[in-house]
Amino acid sequence: MKSSKLETFAGQVVRNSIFIDKLDLSFSQFFIKSPAGGVLCIETGMRGDFPLLKENLHSANIEIESVSHVIVPHFEADEMGALPDFIAHNKNLTAYAHPICSHALADVFSVKAKPLKDEVAVTIGGESIVPIFTKHVHQWDSLVVYVPRFKALFSSDIFMRYGAVDVDSGNALQDIIASIEHSGYLPSLDHLFSALKKIRKYDIDWIFPMHGPAIQEQPAQLIDGLIEYCARNRLGETVAL
Ligand SMILES: [Fe+2]
Ligand SMILES: [Fe+2]
Repeated sequence: MKSSKLETFAGQVVRNSIFIDKLDLSFSQFFIKSPAGGVLCIETGMRGDFPLLKENLHSANIEIESVSHVIVPHFEADEMGALPDFIAHNKNLTAYAHPICSHALADVFSVKAKPLKDEVAVTIGGESIVPIFTKHVHQWDSLVVYVPRFKALFSSDIFMRYGAVDVDSGNALQDIIASIEHSGYLPSLDHLFSALKKIRKYDIDWIFPMHGPAIQEQPAQLIDGLIEYCARNRLGETVAL
């Protein structure tokens, strides 16, 4: 069974979340109305969920045709699967991603795709964003997106948690670590450690993971806690021969 929910944060960040109960996992897509009037999407969600996404956005007065820019944090179905459906509603749409991912998006979907540069601010549809490359967390083309206007980090698969977006135990760090250990989705805590060190430099009020609840409660402390977890455990990682 699947359920969905649309919420608005900080006035202008719209999150559509789809919870798949057999996976015990939520999948979120984010939409920002930029000061210039366009709509920026971060993560498209899967193709099969597109009709529900479109309907939910319509109920929030966001028409899918107004989505003019899409950031794809890495080449994976939940991050870019519905891109053809977005393109079908707006032929002028531009996709943005890591250079490897943008090349693949242009090849597979014939979409206009632009490569992002690591930690180089860029204005997309009137919104200033900073892409932060997070190599091998959990794909080689992974990145997260910092939006200075909201001091918001769209963290893709980092800080992922099982469960629905509105179920929060109050201990995000413990739940995130449990999700990492349960899923095995990270190839290396060493890479996560490096990514978190990059992320820690930014002034963050909000973290919006693709999977799991949004985080507003002491985000810097949470990042530090996860860095400590990686530091404690990364050296114990062994490579099976
Ligand atoms: Fe992923
Ligand atoms: Fe994901």
